[in-house]
Amino acid sequence: MYNAKITATAYHVPEKVVTNQDLEKILDTSDEWIRTRTGIRERRFAARGETTSDLAAAASQKLLEQRGIAARDVDCIVVATITPDMFFPSTACLVQEKIGAKRAWGFDLSGACSGFLYALATASQFVHSGAYRKVLVIGADLMTSILNPKDRNTYVLFGDAAGAILLEPTRRGEQGIIDFILRCDGSGGRFLCMPGGGSLHPASHETVRKNMHFVHQDGRAVFKYAVQGMAEVTTDILKRNHIRASDLALFVPHQANIRIIDAVAERLGLHPSKVVRNIEDFANTTAATLPIGIAESHERRRLHKGDLVLLATFGAGFTSGSLLFRWTL
Ligand code: UT7
Repeated sequence: MYNAKITATAYHVPEKVVTNQDLEKILDTSDEWIRTRTGIRERRFAARGETTSDLAAAASQKLLEQRGIAARDVDCIVVATITPDMFFPSTACLVQEKIGAKRAWGFDLSGACSGFLYALATASQFVHSGAYRKVLVIGADLMTSILNPKDRNTYVLFGDAAGAILLEPTRRGEQGIIDFILRCDGSGGRFLCMPGGGSLHPASHETVRKNMHFVHQDGRAVFKYAVQGMAEVTTDILKRNHIRASDLALFVPHQANIRIIDAVAERLGLHPSKVVRNIEDFANTTAATLPIGIAESHERRRLHKGDLVLLATFGAGFTSGSLLFRWTL
């Protein structure tokens, strides 16, 4: 039995930067409201025709270059997304074709904002069991494809992006992924969802007229559950591994709201210097926030060999999770 470890990480965002000031021109909102309520200053929006699999493939290409391996070396591709290019085939199949990972199989996983953490935990088991040695785990969402441009409650909150990591078996003496907690509470489903387009309300003129193919969120309710849920999954994982928050080198939380991040960090008693925050630049990129957080921290040399890192997330479902790993690069 092996543990799984992260051996490469990369992200890709579309070129187009949309600032709060840009949104002031099209919505009844203000830079001041968005900044103080969410921490967001700008986000990236995909160009017309750019798809989730394009962003995912671009992040994957960067990752393969960084690791110095060929696409055909990849065994399996897991894509966490709620904005696939289409219902089927899966985004994983589209990415496999785009990057030329001829030997790989793959599948999509729907866990909303917790999708990447769910995918990472799932993929780690393929490595842990010895079934596969190189698993590409991608978190990618093109949120603009499901946002109502006229709804200030949601349109200002999200951005488009993809992040990827490669999982491989640990060597002797290495720890890699240590533990994870995965949870969901289906009773929270109504607070954050996209009601149209599925088997309950198949796409029709009526679903379009009623804006059912857009994200609907009761922000206040989700906020309350998010702070509580993230605080629980983080304290529980630390407790059961006999780890103090002060032992952590870095905390990478899902980026939905700076006030949620700060509240959870405060409950953990974490110094702000140990908390990754990039919501300012990219807004909430759903499944991509965590891999971007890891990739940016690696890029900026905030991660050192042996560092203990905690990931935490909360999202639609409700879904939540935490994952503890040791950085081995
Ligand atoms: O990642 C998935 C999980 N999602 C989350 O974790 C999101 C959690 N929720 C939040 O982050 C926050 O609840 C929001 C950022 C969505 C909203 O912030 P809030 O402080 O909870 O605001 P609110 O919803 O209570 O709204 C306060 C006011 C309302 O006006 P009234 O009713 O008090 O007159 C809203 O209509 O702010 C208004 N408002 C806006 N005003 C200017 C809502 N959106 C905007 C906007 N610009 N964009």
